[in-house]
Amino acid sequence: MTAPRRADYYAASLMGEDGGVEALRLILLYVHLIGFALLLGGGIAQYLTGRLRINAAMLWGAVIQILTGLGLSAPLRDGDEPAPAKLVTKLVLALLIFVMVFFSRKRDAVNRGHFLAIIGLTLVNAAVAVFWR
Ligand code: HEM
Repeated sequence: MTAPRRADYYAASLMGEDGGVEALRLILLYVHLIGFALLLGGGIAQYLTGRLRINAAMLWGAVIQILTGLGLSAPLRDGDEPAPAKLVTKLVLALLIFVMVFFSRKRDAVNRGHFLAIIGLTLVNAAVAVFWR
């Protein structure tokens, strides 16, 4: 039997026995939650100012949610993956949110309905994440 290389020791202590896939999943989930905070927090804070425009936090939050969500949709769990229908639902809602945020980002003001729909769809997507098991 050959002795393990030093790099293998480091890898094992940093990543655990799953080779780092679980660490990657947790990092993606962490950034996904930060994106959620930016999108929802940015939207609510903006709404409370009374000036209904798309701010940078909302725009970045919408982008981060799609990118990290797609990453989280990879089979990283070793079985027990979320249902594909759940992921497709989340992707469609997130794309809608992105379109509503991106193409209005330069407007001085958007309709109240448009703005509240962004916040509402964000809340629905979080509910889908939590309650669809
Ligand atoms: C506005 C957009 C989004 C919001 C607000 C959102 C919200 C959330 C929240 C709150 C969680 C944590 C749930 C938990 O750990 O129990 C989560 C997890 C997750 N999200 Fe999203 N998400 C969004 C977009 C997406 C997209 C576009 C995808 C992929 C197509 C996606 C896929 C996932 C996956 C795979 C998880 C891991 C846990 C699980 O499914 O139960 N998300 N999301």
